[in-house]
Amino acid sequence: MTLKIVISGFGTVGQGVAEVLERKQDFIKRRFHRQVRIVAAFDSRSLAHDDGGLDPELLLERKSSSGMVGDPRPSDMCRFLRETEFDVLVEVSPTNIETGGDGLLFIREALNKGAHVITVNKGPLALHFRELNDLAKKKKVQLRFEGAVGGAMPIINLCKENFMGERILTIQGILNGTCNFILSRMDKGLPFGQALKEAQELGYAESDPSYDIDGIDSASKVAILANAVFDRDVTFSDVSVTGITAITEDAIALAGDQNMVIRLIGEVSPDKLEVAPRLIPKGHPLSLSGTLNMAQINTDLAGPITISGRGAGRIETASAIFSDLVAILEAERQ
Ligand SMILES: NC(=O)c1ccc[n+]([C@@H]2O[C@H](COP(=O)([O-])OP(=O)(O)OC[C@H]3O[C@@H](n4cnc5c(N)ncnc54)[C@H](OP(=O)(O)O)[C@@H]3O)[C@@H](O)[C@H]2O)c1
Repeated sequence: MTLKIVISGFGTVGQGVAEVLERKQDFIKRRFHRQVRIVAAFDSRSLAHDDGGLDPELLLERKSSSGMVGDPRPSDMCRFLRETEFDVLVEVSPTNIETGGDGLLFIREALNKGAHVITVNKGPLALHFRELNDLAKKKKVQLRFEGAVGGAMPIINLCKENFMGERILTIQGILNGTCNFILSRMDKGLPFGQALKEAQELGYAESDPSYDIDGIDSASKVAILANAVFDRDVTFSDVSVTGITAITEDAIALAGDQNMVIRLIGEVSPDKLEVAPRLIPKGHPLSLSGTLNMAQINTDLAGPITISGRGAGRIETASAIFSDLVAILEAERQ
């Protein structure tokens, strides 16, 4: 039986998903005796749709040569989703942390029609987690979002599935690679502005970097972890947030004198939701330098567990989406 997929958003991550699905077709056939087919993919302006399945290579070629994945798309993509037959929506359109954006509407539409949703779009999850999760349960489908926190670092499924039954006491982590890169460069003596400029030149930071450096991205992830792992009902605005813009060279030097570094840490526990710069002893796992994400999970039985991985990237994020897809296929097999 074929599993029909729609990809909403065909940018960095959407294209990574198409590539990974192509690369993993044989594995899926071998393990699940099923075929996974992309039946539709759309971006901000265009749509490719074929109920019999689209060729991922052609989608990638067309997007790279024309900037469009298909023909001009209808303006009402919710209607398209309502009227199209598919099993899984992979929602990877841009994050909007104020309204949830179109991604929120697409996720609602897919769940309502009884399709599974895999997303890494933080806006809908940081703003409307409880509503979407309840809707998925009501419709008996899965809402999965491994890549929304930490990209390839498998934090959500580790906490929810591997540690099922354990009590998770706290999660502390470096949840934004851009901030960590900037702070690591400041450790080497660069002032904030210069470290930010370097991050922008290397493509780690956007031309408007406020989403990262003001701690908003990390705070969205803290809200998602609180809801998904601690079963809380919070939104992004419940998180206490301090970014990294006020960190001076003097503060970094003073920390260095005490054998410490400053890192932007997100912390989630049953009574804490915080993103703030913290002093971390050199040599501690959370003193990590560079663009990787890192998390320390404390549980009642296992004690501290530390994981790290690439928090962003086309194939890395698609790997998290693929792990969610495999979980859906596995559940359907039982
Ligand atoms: N990049 C990563 O490593 C990473 C990691 C974790 C999570 N995420 C999340 O994944 C999502 C996608 O990130 P990305 O890096 O792939 O972004 P991106 O490269 O900017 O791609 C976004 C895609 O969404 C399309 N789009 C824009 N508005 C749309 C709309 N209203 N409806 C449907 N499609 C729309 C864009 O269309 P056009 O191509 O026509 O502009 C583009 O194809 C974001 O929510 C991001 O926060 C990304």
